Amino acid sequence: MMRYAHIVGWGHYLPERVVTNDELSRLVDTTDEWIVQRTGIHTRHIAAAHETTATLAFEAAARALAVADLHPSQIELIIVATSTPGHMFPSTACLVQDYLGASRAGAFDLGAACSGFVYALQMASQSIATGAVRNALVIGAETMSRVVDWSDRGTCVLFGDGAGAVVLKGSSIPGGVMATTLRSDGSGADLLSLPALYHNPVPIAGAEFAHNGHHKNIVDMDGRQVYRFATNVIASSVQDVLKQSGLTLDDIALIIPHQANVRIIETAARKMKLPLEKFYLNLDHTGNTSAASIPVALCDAVSEGRLEPDDNIIFVGFGGGLTWGASLVKWDVTPPQVSFIDHEWKRARYVMARGRSRLRRLSRRVEAAVARSSNGHKGDDSAE
Ligand code: COA
Repeated sequence: MMRYAHIVGWGHYLPERVVTNDELSRLVDTTDEWIVQRTGIHTRHIAAAHETTATLAFEAAARALAVADLHPSQIELIIVATSTPGHMFPSTACLVQDYLGASRAGAFDLGAACSGFVYALQMASQSIATGAVRNALVIGAETMSRVVDWSDRGTCVLFGDGAGAVVLKGSSIPGGVMATTLRSDGSGADLLSLPALYHNPVPIAGAEFAHNGHHKNIVDMDGRQVYRFATNVIASSVQDVLKQSGLTLDDIALIIPHQANVRIIETAARKMKLPLEKFYLNLDHTGNTSAASIPVALCDAVSEGRLEPDDNIIFVGFGGGLTWGASLVKWDVTPPQVSFIDHEWKRARYVMARGRSRLRRLSRRVEAAVARSSNGHKGDDSAE
């Protein structure tokens, strides 16, 4: 029997601290007027010192689970699309699994830069379509503020921090994620990059490597080339998913693109002969939050009442890699009302999950101590 991956929950989290263009003009040689005219961005959110990509992702995921009215133990797969993980391992997704107490979930991170959410949505919806999992969490989360060069006016004004999440649920009823296209072109790798961390030297003969010269992991970008690339692939990926699903642009209620720059979206809309209103935009108050931007925009679109049941919507992502892709989704839910008591009770679950996690850590330590002491005794025995 065909299984369809329906979006049944959504949530986002933006850090409290809002940074204005005027504040940035005190850091680099820029102005509010330049940033607004060239990008459409007025403000962005920046993570506090105690926040991490994983804590942002957890907040978004907890909200999405509350809307879906699912217990974390019902989630079987967690994918976090991110370019700013706190660690290569443990993955951000594993930390989120622990914070949620999602005791039956496999978890991994996915790296496809600003297209990451569309890629992750496809991986999770295919896992549902094959029957491998019933419910999955797809999260886009970033702390871009920690990887931009705050002395480079060409990039630091563009990015922001945040996280967005959706819960996917399997059903035999047609709907949800209906068509997806994923593409890449590594020949454009140098146009937009975030080098990996500095490598440790290897003190082994024959294993020395030519150091790549990167001493910092900061975003490097050829703005004009990326701009050109983005305006081309938005139209082509929208056409791909329309063709796959046998629909036309007239059947689409809303396109939710990656929120990079309002001028990119305006140019794409002109190329596609569509009014700008067909594209949802919220980058004026988020900036470019990379893999988080589409799910954050989705949540804003829902809360503004821009989506009706049975609407066809398209997510379009594009970014470093180069990568791009689109998903056509049949939106088939009305936002449920979550009561205050229900909300608080659900939050209490996560306090309990942290408690259980601490207990598991403690019991591992106790087991290790017991094992050490019994090995010590064996050592004594053998010496006798
Ligand atoms: N404030 C003031 N001036 C700035 C500036 C800033 N923040 N950033 C760049 N400039 C200057 C440049 O130095 C240049 O000055 P010059 O003419 O004296 O050399 C001038 O503005 C024009 O630069 P240019 O790069 O041509 O501007 P632009 O109109 O292409 O806009 C971007 C620059 C970055 C906004 C634009 O190229 C862009 O949005 N590219 C895509 C970036 C993106 O979305 N990346 C993520 C994709 S996932």
